[in-house]
Parts: sequence; C-alpha cells; structure tokens
Amino acid sequence: MSGAAKQSGPADEAAGKSEVEELGRLLGELAHEIKNPLSTMKVNLKLVDEELGDSGILDSDKGVPGEKQQRLARARRKIAVILKEADRLEQILGSFLRYAGRMELQLASADVNEIVSEMIDFYSPQARSHSLTVRQYLYKESLVCKADAHMLKQALLNLLINAQQAMSPGGELMIRTGRDGDRAQIQICDTGSGIAEDEMGHIFEAYYSSRAGGTGLGLPTAKRIIEAHKGQVSVASAEGKGSCFTIRLPLSAGAG
Ligand SMILES: Nc1ncnc2c1ncn2[C@@H]1O[C@H](COP(=O)(O)OP(=O)(O)OP(=O)(O)O)[C@@H](O)[C@H]1O
Ligand SMILES: [Mg+2]
Repeated sequence: MSGAAKQSGPADEAAGKSEVEELGRLLGELAHEIKNPLSTMKVNLKLVDEELGDSGILDSDKGVPGEKQQRLARARRKIAVILKEADRLEQILGSFLRYAGRMELQLASADVNEIVSEMIDFYSPQARSHSLTVRQYLYKESLVCKADAHMLKQALLNLLINAQQAMSPGGELMIRTGRDGDRAQIQICDTGSGIAEDEMGHIFEAYYSSRAGGTGLGLPTAKRIIEAHKGQVSVASAEGKGSCFTIRLPLSAGAG
C-alpha cells in the first residue's frame, strides 16, 4: 500500500468533535422547532373537543344516542387518543432537550446536605402517596461543593423517581449523605426490584428502558449533570432486593 493511507490525528479528532457538536446543536434546535407547532396542535385539538362537547349533540339525557351522536362520540375518543400521543411526544422532546440540550451550569457554593434535604421535602408527599417510607441520614457537617443546585436536584429527582418506580407500596427509600475524603457522597437506596446483571451495563445508555412508557433518558441525564459537576455516579444492585445509587462530588477546596 502506498503512503496515502489516511491517518487520523488531533486535527481530525477536533474536526470530528465539532461535527458532533454541530449535529447536537442542530438536533436541539430541531426539537425546539417541533415543540411550538406541537403545542399549537394540542391547543386547537382541545378547542375542537370543547366545541364538540358544548354542542349539546352528545348529551346522553336526550334518549338513546342516534348515529350522529355515536359518530361524534367516536370522533371525541379519537381526539383524546391524539391528545395523549401529543402529550407523549411533548414528554419525549422535553426529556431529549434535558438530556442533549445545552448545559450551562450556574455554579455557586452550596451545601449538599441542604440540597438533599430540600429535595426530600419536595419529594416526600409523592413518596407518601405511593405508601413508601423515606429515611434520611444527613452527614453531621456541611458538605460544601461548587454546584448548580437546581440541576443537581433534577438529577436527584430522576434517581428518586426510578427508585419509586422499582418499588411496590411498603417499600423503603433511604437517602444518605456522607464524606469520602475530598468528595461529598449522596446515596439513594431502594428496596425495589433490583437490576439484573445483564441490564447493569445498559442502564446509563440513552433510550435504554425496561419500563413500559419509559423514555430511558432519566439516568443518562442524571449522569450528564453529575459529570458536568466533575462528579461520578455508580450503582450496586441485587435482583429482588434493591438498588443503591451513589453520587460523588468534589468538595470545595478547604471544605471541612
Ligand atoms: N432504582 C432502580 N431500580 C431498578 N431498576 C432501575 C432503577 N433505576 C433505573 N433502573 C433501570 O434502568 C432503566 C433506565 O432508567 P432511566 O431512568 O434512564 O429510564 P426510565 O426510568 O426507564 O425512563 P425515564 O426516561 O422516564 O426516566 C430503567 O428502565 C430500569 O430498568
Ligand atoms: Mg427514569
């Protein structure tokens, strides 16, 4: 073979990276562009449905429904299906934008204990309504990190929702903060279904989901947020017993 064989070097890698970035940007814009007409369609469908409902033709107290009423009732059921699908599309776009959209962290000094305890206050009513017990153990000292509290809460919420979805009523959710050297640690453990060994390697992949109706972007989004904070997330799980997700975040220099 002649010396014309192509070798990739840093310049190609940089070009490849910027192409990927450009593609990511375009996809983000596309998702945004789809959102607006979708919500216009939803609003108008709702209006059509309201008009059909207000028309009085469907009132059941006017005797046995005739063919006209039955056709209108069928049309309204179809509208309901389209609205449900439009909601789902909106959800998919929302998850995609949270996962692939620009992530500009608003970093500030924040105490991980405070972030976690605020998140528990926010989440506990939902846990109660699913008959789950929440136990929290907060580290005795403050755990100061440079963090975007809003984004970190989003990551925690994704983990809490997953834990909830893996458990039946009566399950226990344990949230613990701690310190591991120069890192703050947050653990979210559940007594749910656990994760099968062959699933473990996939759960952080975009669009991997074992749940009917799951998008498969909850964990990848949480991971992306945590890694943007220079942290890591790991998981330990035993099938049928439960799972434990551990987040580690660098503590601010001089903390503690
Ligand atoms: N605490 C958990 N216990 C058991 N399985 C889990 C747990 N957390 C995640 N998983 C598994 O990992 C998969 C991926 O989770 P991820 O949050 O990314 O997607 P999802 O929950 O299926 O959908 P969504 O996009 O709505 O979050 C889940 O479908 C489930 O199989
Ligand atoms: Mg999820």
